[in-house]
Amino acid sequence: MDRTLVHEITNNLFLLRMVDDQVRYFEALWEIPEGITYNAYLLRTSEGSILFDGWKGEYTKDFIDTIKKVTDFNEIKYVVVHHMEPDHTGSLKQVLELIEPKPLVIGRPMVKDMIRSFYGIDVKFKPIKKVEEIKIGEYNLMFIPAPWLHWPETMVTYVRELKTLLTCDAFGGYGIPHKIFDDEEPDISQYLRGVKKYLATVIGSYKSHIIKNINNLLRLNIEIKILAPGHGLLWRKDPKRIIDYYYHLAKGEVKERKALVVYDSMYGFVERAISKIVKILSEYAFRVEIFEFNDKERAEISEIISEASDSSFIVLGISTYENDMFPLMKNVIDMLIKKVNREVPILVVSSYGWGPVVGTKVLEAIKNSKFKIVDVIQFRGTTTEDFETKVKNIIDRVIA
Ligand SMILES: Cc1cc2nc3c(=O)[nH]c(=O)nc-3n(C[C@H](O)[C@H](O)[C@H](O)COP(=O)(O)O)c2cc1C
Ligand SMILES: [Fe+2]
Ligand SMILES: [Fe+2]
Repeated sequence: MDRTLVHEITNNLFLLRMVDDQVRYFEALWEIPEGITYNAYLLRTSEGSILFDGWKGEYTKDFIDTIKKVTDFNEIKYVVVHHMEPDHTGSLKQVLELIEPKPLVIGRPMVKDMIRSFYGIDVKFKPIKKVEEIKIGEYNLMFIPAPWLHWPETMVTYVRELKTLLTCDAFGGYGIPHKIFDDEEPDISQYLRGVKKYLATVIGSYKSHIIKNINNLLRLNIEIKILAPGHGLLWRKDPKRIIDYYYHLAKGEVKERKALVVYDSMYGFVERAISKIVKILSEYAFRVEIFEFNDKERAEISEIISEASDSSFIVLGISTYENDMFPLMKNVIDMLIKKVNREVPILVVSSYGWGPVVGTKVLEAIKNSKFKIVDVIQFRGTTTEDFETKVKNIIDRVIA
């Protein structure tokens, strides 16, 4: 299967897409069985070609071959670097080596030094300090700083004549779309699950910046006919949909009564308590998403983070392990605080053998976050008789 794709998405603007179905852990961390794409772009103008971003380093040869399909290397006069993360710049050094005379690299001020430090090269550089419009050939390009989407040096580009916004990480998603555009995608809601997971795992820590940057964009009053991100689907039927989707997730808004249940269980004690809670949650008409760590299953942390971003209630079942929380659940809590950190009620249940310590540990871990622990129920081995009543009282309080 050819994993590269070239497509003229609008006049003279080409998508150069690489399908990465080899990656299993994005950023060496996030499980993505659905894969990802790297979308670079190339605009042909009367003043030469402009290359926007690139691909991950291991696909440099494919990238070079793909660029050759749309332009002669010496035609490339400008290289726009929206974001320095190596999933978009890993190929930069070798691409620049092939271009003569050397093109002008355009990016946020920090980018010049980052290129030197990452790749050991000095480039001819034009820094973008604030929103700035530059005419290249017949096109007006507006460069718009978009800090923390997803690093401090990020920006996006609006090509005025094409009404196209190139956004790199922002508005991207995990997954390998069958086609290119939103109107060709048979199951947008499925694709949006990958977007939710991408947003939560990659940009989740910077949600306030998502909101700020979207407000900045709206203030510019630009008409967006095509929104073209650096990962995943391109939007031309309804670009507003992906902007709204990002906005609402960043705000932490919930649409339904959904409970996220995450637990570990070494020998089944916590698991039996969780089963009781799940039954009660269903009686209260919660949709329940369950993730477990036991001797048969190991939940994917990226899915947990993703589902936590729009849950209205969270239940954590944690067994006591060497005078502490079970280690994998400790990691879950760290990640929830780092990536999700929303005002969501959390119920903690914990089983112990000789000393109840998880309650104190979890309260300590969560105290400086936005999460609200509504209660901690600890039991020695098995739950006590009043367990169900306690749980129901807690849920009554949560949904009141
Ligand atoms: C490796 C291991 C370490 C444990 N460490 C503690 C501990 O430090 N304090 C404690 O009270 N119980 C400890 N226990 C007992 C369990 O927390 C207790 O049996 C609990 O009910 C286990 O629930 P689970 O089977 O759902 O994991 C430990 C058990 C195991 C297997
Ligand atoms: Fe990134
Ligand atoms: Fe990226």
